[in-house]
Amino acid sequence: PYSKRNCAAKMSVSTATMSLPNPFLSDLKEDILFHLGPNTRDPKNIQKFRDTKFVIIGGTPSRMKLYAEKLSDLFKEEVLDFTSGDRYAFFKVGPVVTVSIFTVFYFPAWCRLGSVSVVLHEIIKLLYHAQCEDVALIRTGTCGGIGVEPGTVVVTRNAVNDRFQPVFEFSRLGETVSRSTKLCSELADSIMACQNNNIPIIKADTMCAEDFYECQGRLDGAICEITKEQKMAFLQKAVEAGVRNIEMESCGIAALCNACGVKAAVVCVTLIDRLKGDQLNTPTEILRKWEQRPFTVIVEFIKEQLKIS
Ligand code: URA
Repeated sequence: PYSKRNCAAKMSVSTATMSLPNPFLSDLKEDILFHLGPNTRDPKNIQKFRDTKFVIIGGTPSRMKLYAEKLSDLFKEEVLDFTSGDRYAFFKVGPVVTVSIFTVFYFPAWCRLGSVSVVLHEIIKLLYHAQCEDVALIRTGTCGGIGVEPGTVVVTRNAVNDRFQPVFEFSRLGETVSRSTKLCSELADSIMACQNNNIPIIKADTMCAEDFYECQGRLDGAICEITKEQKMAFLQKAVEAGVRNIEMESCGIAALCNACGVKAAVVCVTLIDRLKGDQLNTPTEILRKWEQRPFTVIVEFIKEQLKIS
């Protein structure tokens, strides 16, 4: 099993069980988790999360609902639906929380990082207020592969930017802030160790891009100002750097979790081999099956951790 705390954070406020690097939180009379719903004014609701051990954070609201329903069969417990209005889909079943990266009423694509950052801040504060212990947060979803068979699950070793550095850069008050995207390697190894033999799975570096088309070197967006040769040379460089998949959230998630001392992993399925093309033209029924694969792997991991069969 993975070790308890390998991701150190600057400790500024603490409950008995968790610390967050924000001294201002202790000044709040109540903390309104505006986008998620719960409010610390209602401690009974917050306490429902006290036994959380796993947070699965992923793409669409419907997928997160489906995952919660499947976990309900596993734990023989009802799904608690905390989804508030048109915002993030948000469920709890037994010790697992599932939450969507997108809101029920979609954020536009260019707001995507804002979308995941909002939900992540609030999930981490919720875990803190509920005094949760030893939680693993797992980002699941789909991605593009580079030189791997489509349908392969990639467990991220390092989440890197498009210069293949394990950092997440963002702008705050007009200045660039750079945070480490260090993930919990024991957690990744524990997930890799419970593979289901029917699912191809590898551990590799994941490149986090700022968009789907231009920043992933696609030639099929509404605008393209690069050549095919430039695209292929970049993808080749990525392979040489150890990257085998590209998505759009891993660095933001890894950086915030690492800074807050929350263990995180990224488990995504490739839908395409980008060395062979840009368009996602696999039939929908096959894509739907592949989309289940990271969840299947995560369920195996949860069962192993909780020693349930
Ligand atoms: N998601 C991505 O970000 N890129 C792909 O190519 C497929 C899914």
